[in-house]
Amino acid sequence: MRITTTVNGTEREVDDVWAGESLLYVLRERLGLPGAKNACEQGECGSCTVYLDGEPVCACLVAAGQANGRQVTTVEGLAEGERLHPVQEAFLETGAVQCGFCTPGLVVAAHDLLQRVSRPSDLEIREALAGNLCRCTGYEKILDAVRLAADRQAQG
Ligand code: FES
Ligand code: FES
Repeated sequence: MRITTTVNGTEREVDDVWAGESLLYVLRERLGLPGAKNACEQGECGSCTVYLDGEPVCACLVAAGQANGRQVTTVEGLAEGERLHPVQEAFLETGAVQCGFCTPGLVVAAHDLLQRVSRPSDLEIREALAGNLCRCTGYEKILDAVRLAADRQAQG
């Protein structure tokens, strides 16, 4: 089947999508957007988190056909051209990126949180990121990144 979906603001057509194909596969393998990572393919790790019509979803659990006619935003789409989004910058500056496998999903989840709650408590950050697993950082630097991004957002 053919699907038409708007990805990071651009309408994209994808042909020959098979029924069991995931949105994650389409993004990575057909559209050349490797930001969302394929770690578990079971909805367990959050590495593949993207926005679908503004809601964060695990792209590995979304059938590509479900994205037909809808808006997808990936971690690549948060940056403005060459300029990283402040959440992306905060992850880099605080050392929250180690192997980086979890990072795209965490950035999208943190971005979503900060859109809803401008100054989240540590508990709110932990709850919002609970579905995103990181094997490297011990999470402290990730908390630092979200706090830093929130501070900067508050300063305008
Ligand atoms: S790859 Fe989708 S949740 Fe792990
Ligand atoms: S930085 Fe390696 S899994 Fe999080």
